[in-house]
Amino acid sequence: MGKIALITGITGQDGAYLSELLLRKGYEVHGIKRRSSSLNTQRVDRLYDHPSFKLHYGDVTDAINMHQLIAKILPDEIYNLAAQSHVAVSFEMPLYTVNADGTAILGILEAVRLLGLDCKIYQAGTSEMFGNAPAPQNLSTPFMPCSPYACAKVMAHHLMITYRQAYDMHCVNGILFNHESPLRGETFVTRKIVDAAKAIYNGKQNILKLGNLNASRDWGHARDYVRGMWEMMQYQTPEDWILATGQVCTVREFTTKVFAKLDIKLNWVGTGRGEVGMDNSGRILVRVDERYYRPNEVEYLQGDPIKAYELLGWEPQFTLDDLINDMMDA
Ligand code: NAP
Ligand code: GDD
Repeated sequence: MGKIALITGITGQDGAYLSELLLRKGYEVHGIKRRSSSLNTQRVDRLYDHPSFKLHYGDVTDAINMHQLIAKILPDEIYNLAAQSHVAVSFEMPLYTVNADGTAILGILEAVRLLGLDCKIYQAGTSEMFGNAPAPQNLSTPFMPCSPYACAKVMAHHLMITYRQAYDMHCVNGILFNHESPLRGETFVTRKIVDAAKAIYNGKQNILKLGNLNASRDWGHARDYVRGMWEMMQYQTPEDWILATGQVCTVREFTTKVFAKLDIKLNWVGTGRGEVGMDNSGRILVRVDERYYRPNEVEYLQGDPIKAYELLGWEPQFTLDDLINDMMDA
């Protein structure tokens, strides 16, 4: 008998790649999808006919629903990936974000505890929890969350440790730095840049508007990161881990690289909120737009994944260039 996994957030970027990985490993994969008036399962539609792939309606903020699903599915492993995962949106919907990204893990932890299940739980933590703490951020770096999203994730992280210590439950925290892919949501900056560059190249869009071009991120590929999630869950003891590449680039550099793949050289002119990116003929293709700034900015994230490297043998297989090529080719 293969293992049974339950994935919340299965319709998102990571949920789709993790599903594929677990099915390849012989798991029965159950996922929670939210009821929506429009289709929200595009990322996993190709798995729909797989005999070991099953979707259930649910919402992580509904603890009764989570308890019922966990009691019915009896999973060996739960991956809690569900989240309102957009940092900027979390400033506009703080209470919902804290409910979905922070409080909701309690529904899962309590269900597993009350049902007495021998079930491992993975919580999708984030480099945003470090906020503007000095880089490189490692497992000793203090959390300095500076968005409702990050505050919620810090709470979930500590609840996991609390249940691990108090009830001896197998609670695993993955603190993952930014990871992208062709399945990335359209409003995250890498996908937005790739889509816009292609549309500008094809004459379908005139300009790309961005916020903070100086923001620096440690960008990896989601395929590498879901493999890391699974490896953390197989480790003999429940622990906290960091997955990152250690390589950093700014939003400006990422944009330059993407346009360069289309043979467009961007020249950056001006500073701060007046900065623009022009092609060699002087046409403005990129402009800074105040609306994409956040009330609080996280300026520089660079992770130190040494523990995962040494104890799991995990290391990223995609370079930043590989990632951009994969996103451009999609
Ligand atoms: P994503 O593409 O935004 O996917 C989020 C998933 O959560 C979607 O399936 C979404 O469903 C679901 N969801 C949202 N609210 C829910 C609710 N109340 N109940 C049930 N499902 C809900 O995010 P991702 O990039 O795959 O990230 C996966 C997890 O890792 C998230 O927790 C994120 O915060 C965390 N994380 C991501 C990164 C990264 O760089 N990607 C880095 C660190 C941590 P719909 O499809 O219906 O919206
Ligand atoms: N989205 C977006 N749109 N971001 C922009 C833009 C823009 O037009 N212009 C500049 N940025 C900057 C943001 O201010 C941020 O500093 C950086 O680009 C990356 O933004 P996002 O792609 O939205 O990702 P994020 O870093 O805020 O959050 C992602 O990574 C976290 C891990 O560090 C999300 O996936 C989170 O869920 C994840 O936890």
